[in-house]
Amino acid sequence: MSEHPVDQKEQLGRGGGKPLIDALQGRVTDRPPLWLMRQAGRYLPEYQALRKQAETFIDFCLTPDLAVEATLQPIRRYRLNAAILFSDILVIPYALGQAVGFEQGEGPKLEPVRDAEAIDALEINGLVDRLAPVYEAARRVSKTLEPEVAFIGFAGAPWTVATYMIEGGTSRDFTMAKRMAYGESHGFAKLIDLLTEATIEHLLAQIEAGAEVVQVFDSWAGVLSETDFERFAIEPMRRIVNRIKDSVRPVPVIGFPRGAGVGYAHYVAATGVDAISLDTSVPLGWARDQLQPMATLQGNLDPEVLVCGGELLEREARRIMGALGDGPFIFNLGHGVNKDTPVEHVAHLVELVRGAG
Ligand code: CP3
Repeated sequence: MSEHPVDQKEQLGRGGGKPLIDALQGRVTDRPPLWLMRQAGRYLPEYQALRKQAETFIDFCLTPDLAVEATLQPIRRYRLNAAILFSDILVIPYALGQAVGFEQGEGPKLEPVRDAEAIDALEINGLVDRLAPVYEAARRVSKTLEPEVAFIGFAGAPWTVATYMIEGGTSRDFTMAKRMAYGESHGFAKLIDLLTEATIEHLLAQIEAGAEVVQVFDSWAGVLSETDFERFAIEPMRRIVNRIKDSVRPVPVIGFPRGAGVGYAHYVAATGVDAISLDTSVPLGWARDQLQPMATLQGNLDPEVLVCGGELLEREARRIMGALGDGPFIFNLGHGVNKDTPVEHVAHLVELVRGAG
């Protein structure tokens, strides 16, 4: 901590001894807390082995024993400051009644929602009941973690989840999602509204089950025009943040409008997030000057630098800590861990950030 010793004690009390919470409450920590988006998953051999115990990926996410174990695997291996619940952003379309599958090596496949009829068929009533195994997993993780490790819940942002629902999977140009937004604007607005409500219910249920922080992933925010960024990214996020802050257990919220460029500044100011996750392309000096006075920063090592490792990893990690470490800051990647990442490169990064390397 950078402040005097009396404050340090108070700080320990306020953040509950959790460095991640300290940083999210705006305090400057001596070494930045560290966790990695997609820190659980396929780059870990123990995850590959565990994955075989469920037939489909959705089944895996909805089996508490497996979801708890996958959440804890990276925590056992590395000294990370946070565990993120093992789940997926696409459990929401699943819980709304859309068919969701994952094909090996091809990513998600959904039965596309492309007209008013398909939107009307989505059912939000009972969503929290259908996702009960997710909250059961969260409850168990929350009871297991060491006191200094923070527990993060998450959801996809409405726009990003809508792209998967409309496109039927991952997309390059979002043609179908945009055609629906422009050509069937009433139905599309209804879908965004439904997803905003579903996201709020899902996040509040995770918080009730023990999540101490939530992150909202807007992975495809960067393809929206200024007007649409306002309507489909900022407005829903403002509603999500307000509802969490007005709830019985308000927790810090991290936003991740990936690819938003200069739009990051308006996003932070307009949504009221406590922290903002920077994608790899955000210039650090700009982020420090324009964003850090408003919110805690998180990021933004290129996941491919972690795949590469070595001196490049050392140089980049130091550059990021040097630029952002004088304000409230959480070390993370600019996007999720790549499945080809060598496990020893992650160990190296942990040492670098912890100050031992
Ligand atoms: O961070 C963590 O460790 C928690 C787990 C987590 C997963 N997905 C597990 C997962 C989180 C936070 C996510 C978020 C997610 N899911 C996002 C937002 C972040 C981002 O990457 O932009 C998105 C867009 C998805 C949708 C999704 N899920 C895709 C596109 C894919 C297939 C491609 C891929 O990267 O694997 C998934 C499947 C998925 N989600 C896997 C894991 C571990 C792989 C499933 C497997 O084959 O075992």
